[in-house]
Amino acid sequence: LFAFAGGWTGEWKVIRSRPVSGEALPPVDRLAVLSGDARIDARWILRGVTSYERYVTFDEKRELAAKQPALGRPESTCAALIPIRKSSEWWQLAADARRAVLEDSSHHIRTGMRYLPAIARKLYHCRDLGEPFDFLTWFEYAPADRNAFEELVDMLRGTEEWQYVEREVDLRLVKED
Ligand code: HEM
Repeated sequence: LFAFAGGWTGEWKVIRSRPVSGEALPPVDRLAVLSGDARIDARWILRGVTSYERYVTFDEKRELAAKQPALGRPESTCAALIPIRKSSEWWQLAADARRAVLEDSSHHIRTGMRYLPAIARKLYHCRDLGEPFDFLTWFEYAPADRNAFEELVDMLRGTEEWQYVEREVDLRLVKED
């Protein structure tokens, strides 16, 4: 279990917080990334768990393993936390239909792969935790890769997959002790 706590403490300074779809999150100055059930005084706390992969094929899994960098690289002083909730229409689709939207039509994995290893990523699931979002997506990158990340996010938001996104908030952060 992981927790993202928005408030007044934490090593990440919030430089932008923007609702892309649906309701915004209350504004905060800093973000703390905590593991487990750590207690902290915060304005809001979003929780998620790491889980197994639902959609990746054998070949994609191998390619991801080869290209994906670890989190916490010292030069990755920029980060994004993008909590996302998908619609009930999405969740009513069968697994093969969801894979068809995510990859065959939207090329989420193929497109994302082009941004590795510049962008480090981690996906947390929270739909079954009674949380306000289904996913917490987390990315880390160097300042020089800011534009590349922007390009990737814009591209994904134009896909068929994103027609199923009913709430999305985009928080951008910089590491600051
Ligand atoms: C950095 C490059 C990226 C790569 C390589 C990548 C790759 C992936 C992969 C492989 C999955 C499927 C996981 C599974 O099988 O369960 C996934 C899911 C997901 N990704 Fe990305 N992704 C990238 C960027 C992004 C960005 C920028 C966003 C948000 C703006 C995003 C949002 C999501 C979400 C919400 C899911 C869960 C989808 C679902 O289960 O319905 N990804 N990504």
